[in-house]
Amino acid sequence: MTRIFSGVKPTGHLTLGNYLGAVRQWVAAEQAPDEALFCVVDLHALTVEHEPARVRRLSRQAATLLLAAGLDPQRCTLFVQSHVDEHTRLAYLLECTATDGELRRMIQYKEKAAKAQAAGDGVRLSLLTYPVLMAADILAYRTDEVPVGEDQRQHVELTRDLAVRFNQRYGHTFTVPEATHPAVAARVMDLQEPTSKMGKSDANGTGIVYLLDEPGAVRKKVMRAVTDSGDGGVVYDRESRPGVANLLDVLAACTGGDPVRLAADYTGYGALKRDVADAVVELLRPVRERHAELAADPAQVDKVLREGAGRARELARPVVDRAYEAIGLLAP
Ligand code: AMP
Ligand code: TRP
Repeated sequence: MTRIFSGVKPTGHLTLGNYLGAVRQWVAAEQAPDEALFCVVDLHALTVEHEPARVRRLSRQAATLLLAAGLDPQRCTLFVQSHVDEHTRLAYLLECTATDGELRRMIQYKEKAAKAQAAGDGVRLSLLTYPVLMAADILAYRTDEVPVGEDQRQHVELTRDLAVRFNQRYGHTFTVPEATHPAVAARVMDLQEPTSKMGKSDANGTGIVYLLDEPGAVRKKVMRAVTDSGDGGVVYDRESRPGVANLLDVLAACTGGDPVRLAADYTGYGALKRDVADAVVELLRPVRERHAELAADPAQVDKVLREGAGRARELARPVVDRAYEAIGLLAP
């Protein structure tokens, strides 16, 4: 049996990038007879400037959207990270396994720390230790596979290193997990700035398609997407034509095609953008409709999360207890 774990941070509204890069893979994964756990990783949202009420609101919204996207609580465990103490319990042991240098090398840390500094905010210590908490999220469940977008590759690599190191020093405790990425759209780019990732916490929203955007807004954003100058028609080249390549990736992910082959169907950007807009609107329509139904009954969502946390705790407890013993702590 393969065990799958993944998570999403409630730092903003979920985007098309989250959906194509991660959430859609989660929905596919829960169809297999695997054990799958999906988590709204709220503690991770506290690593940067945050507004308490907003984090709370976004946590419930993320859970509701995951259900709307097709996660079935009968087939997977959906829960909120802070409801299961095992994550932070284990994070400390892993902090005693990781090194300072290892964490300072993380690309996301460097980028976000620079951003916080530029904004005149202090860099929270938790921003540095964040990948260790993420490793705890994964290792507490003896996870085999972690379906994530491309940007999380380095964090999962660190998780693997920590698992191997802990096992070597203290005896076999953790499964060494592997990251899995979708074949296309593992890194959806910002429509206005196609050399940067479409990120949900970016301030300027015009290049970001949110899952709950109205069809009109989706169309407008796609039609205004930055394309590349240059002749030669529509070709797929991520290096020299990142804007067009991104649109082709999104279209391919929506329609199940191949981005290179799709390029041959177009002679101009206008027709390509119209098809991308149609495909994205149709992809998101059922998610948006189901979200509206589910959001009308937040008590039901809370119940799913409560039950999910109960199941998650049952799974994580013995693994984390075993790690406490292995590292040299006296049993209570
Ligand atoms: P986050 O929004 O950072 O909490 O990410 C949640 C999941 O969505 C992770 O697996 C990310 O790798 C994935 N993800 C986020 N943004 C993108 C993007 N622009 N393209 C592809 N995957 C993404
Ligand atoms: N760091 C991930 C992100 O920014 C979110 C995350 C936290 C996660 N814990 C995880 C993803 C465990 C997969 C598994 O997207």
